[in-house]
Amino acid sequence: MIFSTLVALAAVAEAMPQFGGGGNTMLRFGCSQVVIDRIDPLVNPGQAPSPHMHQVVGGNAFNTSMASTDIAKLADCTTCGYSEDLSNYWTANLYFKARNGSYKRVPQIPNRELFNDKYTTGTQGGFVVYYVSPGKSKVQAFKPGFRMLVGDANKRAKEGSGLKSQTCFRCYTGPNFAGDNAAPCADGKLDTEAFPTAPCPGGIRSNILYPTCWDGKNLDSPDHKAHVAYPKAGPATFTGSSVGGDCPSTHPVKIPQIMLEIVWDTRQFNNKADWPTDGSQPFVLSTGDPTGYGQHGDYVFGWKDDSLQRAMDEAKGCMGASCGGLKTQAVSVGNGCKVPSRVKEDIGDGWLSKLPGMEM
Ligand SMILES: *[C@@H]1O[C@H](CO)[C@@H](O)[C@H](O)[C@H]1NC(C)=O
Ligand SMILES: *[C@@H]1O[C@H](CO)[C@@H](O)[C@H](O)[C@H]1NC(C)=O
Repeated sequence: MIFSTLVALAAVAEAMPQFGGGGNTMLRFGCSQVVIDRIDPLVNPGQAPSPHMHQVVGGNAFNTSMASTDIAKLADCTTCGYSEDLSNYWTANLYFKARNGSYKRVPQIPNRELFNDKYTTGTQGGFVVYYVSPGKSKVQAFKPGFRMLVGDANKRAKEGSGLKSQTCFRCYTGPNFAGDNAAPCADGKLDTEAFPTAPCPGGIRSNILYPTCWDGKNLDSPDHKAHVAYPKAGPATFTGSSVGGDCPSTHPVKIPQIMLEIVWDTRQFNNKADWPTDGSQPFVLSTGDPTGYGQHGDYVFGWKDDSLQRAMDEAKGCMGASCGGLKTQAVSVGNGCKVPSRVKEDIGDGWLSKLPGMEM
């Protein structure tokens, strides 16, 4: 990677001054893909197949249904760098639609190294997960059984003004993550809520930011959103006051800020001659969304015992993929953790005539 660790640290500290130490914690760690499957235990429990395809990382308790229990006790391996994180995180997949109407799945590339973390450069599929806390005793870690959803799979247009979304894309214009120093979903030039409109030579990055306030009572809610909320100042940006910002009285408990960061390897699809003749861009989420506004993320908490709370409370603050007494594992071990796919179908590593679950 082009950045030396020192340069990268300086860049991140500059972009995110509140993470310069002094007790702030920002865990940042890679998780390999545990499965790609058309199931969704949160939104469509028990359904196999569910309406659209997902890519999933984390523990091997992932299943068509996941009871609201301590899944850290059900899983016995994880694809994540922190081996006590048996949570599951999942998002839509990305597909390329060719001029002839065929689809092919866009693979993911390991993320760049930061904070001396070799793990994220060696993951297979998957993405990077962040947990942010503004300091000791300032956030309450999730309780066993907790789950939530961010984003709306049916959204197809911008809502509100400015770039204050919980999901965004960044077009990598060069092969070396050029322009990557600015904090995600915060830069009105680099980041867009819709898919980039031109080919991105270094791939497309997705960021998905979860709410940071909780009602303090419910582990879930019927829409998987109502029990959590953004701070009073509105949806989070990673540099905003969201982590330290005041929570609404309805959701007074501050929870760690989770962010997912996915790098889609679009390089094999960058030939403009293969792009639509009407000038539109060719990528589509596995929901059938050609806009990108419907990007969404699911989360089921599964850290062992009090390990997440200990990380969030670490007195000196933690950066990256090592933190106090938290256990980590070799990437080869994480890459070996898998769950079998429940729905046997072609996921699009060759050409498909339609998206899995979608009409033509
Ligand atoms: C997944 O769920 C199915 C159906 O409820 C169950 O039969 C199976 O044992 C579960 N698998 C795992 C690994 O938990
Ligand atoms: C559709 O287009 C892609 C990309 O050009 C090509 O590889 C594929 O063979 C085509 N499929 C059909 C059915 O023509």
